[in-house]
Amino acid sequence: MTAVDLSTRIANVELQSYIMNASGPKCTSFDELKAISQSASAAVVTKSCTIEAREGNPLPRYQNLALGSIQSMGLPNLGYQAYLAMMADLKAQGKPVVVSVSGFSIEDNVKMVSAFMESEADLIEVNFSCPNIPGKAQVAYDFEQTKQSLAALSELGDKPIGIKLAPYFDMSHFVAMADIINQFPVKFVTCINSIGNTLVIDPHTEQPIIKPKGGFGGLCGEYIKPVGLANVRAFRELLNDDVSVIGVGGINTGIDAFEYLLAGADAVQIATCFEKQGPECFARIESELKQFMGSKDYMTVAQAKGQLKPL
Ligand code: DHB
Repeated sequence: MTAVDLSTRIANVELQSYIMNASGPKCTSFDELKAISQSASAAVVTKSCTIEAREGNPLPRYQNLALGSIQSMGLPNLGYQAYLAMMADLKAQGKPVVVSVSGFSIEDNVKMVSAFMESEADLIEVNFSCPNIPGKAQVAYDFEQTKQSLAALSELGDKPIGIKLAPYFDMSHFVAMADIINQFPVKFVTCINSIGNTLVIDPHTEQPIIKPKGGFGGLCGEYIKPVGLANVRAFRELLNDDVSVIGVGGINTGIDAFEYLLAGADAVQIATCFEKQGPECFARIESELKQFMGSKDYMTVAQAKGQLKPL
């Protein structure tokens, strides 16, 4: 009924819709990725990969919460070569593929990004913000390491590279990180990752609710939407115009996605809602977004993008 057009673009990659899965839930195996291809997700985003396959952290490592989840998965994945090997089959499913890489060093990331540059992947999202590996700090909170990483990643090929950022909570950090990103050929940023190292306690058992790291894990879902919106807004205003911004954090409805659109996101990703509801969530959120935009006479993404009004 509505003629709202949600097509958009990240770097040079055309997307049929504004909504895709986030790296994280249900995107590790080929079968999971195939299910995403067959949903209304605009693209297929893979679980962050490492050089070697990993089992991840001890269980329990994920718990649903009333308004989201807490997780410390520990990067369970098949190892980057498995994603390289399945790339042609994934692409044959017909959707753009965004491969997420999360090395433990600059060398790891250079090796994996170099390999994916030669693959059929459309976009490479380098994860600078995994909070769940014991002893490994989040790169995105270390500005010097971020700069060194981007310098090393900038020469590896023509395929667009983006970075998955941690949430920031201080204006000076938005400015410092945007200044670094603007110095390199980063084509997109994805913000935000989970809020790292939060603690949920069960008062009855007097224990944390997840096992890894003494219960410290990434907070996800509706709790973090205002943080995601602020990060998208700040980076949209501070980054060069040719850097796309992907919003993620607490999107459960089309209206949530519309808020990210007003903040300036070029597209959005869905993690916790997809984890809880499965691949049907993409079509539902898409149809809700179209409905809400249509009711406000916004017919394209471009018409509403960044149009947050001053109060
Ligand atoms: C994991 C969690 C993250 O937030 C992330 O960015 C990458 C990996 C994990 O624990 O598997």
